[in-house]
Amino acid sequence: MKKVMVTGCLGQIGSELVAKLRELNGPDSVIATDIRRPIDNPTVQSGPFEELDVNDYDHMLQIAKDNNVDTLIHLAALLSAVAEKKPQLAWNLNMGGLVNALEVARELNLKFFTPSSIGSFGPNTPKDNTPQDTLQRPTTMYGVTKVSGELLCDYYHTKFGVDTRGVRFPGLISYKTLPGGGTTDYAVDIYYEALKKGSYESFIKEGTYMDMMYMPDAIDAVIKLMNADPDKLVHRNAFNITAMSFEPEDIKKSIQKVMPEFDMTYDVDPMRQTIADSWPNSIDPTCAKEEWGFSPNYDLDAMTRDMLDKLKDRVEQG
Ligand code: SER
Repeated sequence: MKKVMVTGCLGQIGSELVAKLRELNGPDSVIATDIRRPIDNPTVQSGPFEELDVNDYDHMLQIAKDNNVDTLIHLAALLSAVAEKKPQLAWNLNMGGLVNALEVARELNLKFFTPSSIGSFGPNTPKDNTPQDTLQRPTTMYGVTKVSGELLCDYYHTKFGVDTRGVRFPGLISYKTLPGGGTTDYAVDIYYEALKKGSYESFIKEGTYMDMMYMPDAIDAVIKLMNADPDKLVHRNAFNITAMSFEPEDIKKSIQKVMPEFDMTYDVDPMRQTIADSWPNSIDPTCAKEEWGFSPNYDLDAMTRDMLDKLKDRVEQG
């Protein structure tokens, strides 16, 4: 991973991954790309940046070639709630972009990473301690694209020898960039609203457990997996990873340890609740731990303290 091209780099994961890789390897080590170019954005300003629509294969190939990249990290995709509202667009973007990115990786012999998700599981998947290898019959368009993506990445590895690697991310919680329309977003929104209003109205129902992870652990996981010895990888696309599993009342109690006056009510969104109900309560990350040493640092309370601390200044500054 000396020179990395990242697609969708203005999203929740991309903005932090690009920053971390540039901090580790220098500003020119990352060619950041996204479909838009907001001029005052730190990702745009901190190193090379190209405007790219991932459905444009020729342009993607050209950028990778011109910059002599050795790794492609493909992040551009629609998240679950948006994908459910615009299923055709989600299929075209999530699958079209992925096929193009895999073809670029094959053509230029690049290492390759793309994220899958807890959304790749469905209602008949074992709900608790969900195994690495299990039933995957998702009922959302997001999930359909994620399972198809896992299979396609495995295919490019076995058929063409492309070094594809991936993880099934749980809900990711971060304070720098907001997620763009996922089901687990309540666990991000809650911290902003706690600081702004002292209360939060949850669109996910009490008692709904989902896996979650704090962004620094997610970024570490991507870098660790990409640097892992390929001989130790039994699996590739995609590893279960998680740092915690909680329901809305757990995160409320965690915030109340720092802000005792914080209060939460519910106004459940039926669409996102249906999606959440189709996902596991908690997945088993044993294979990721054994095959490449996945080891998250943050539990719920450590994440809450850090989120509230870091977000305070941003919320105060407006
Ligand atoms: N956080 C994602 C979503 O809710 C799951 O991968 O869509």
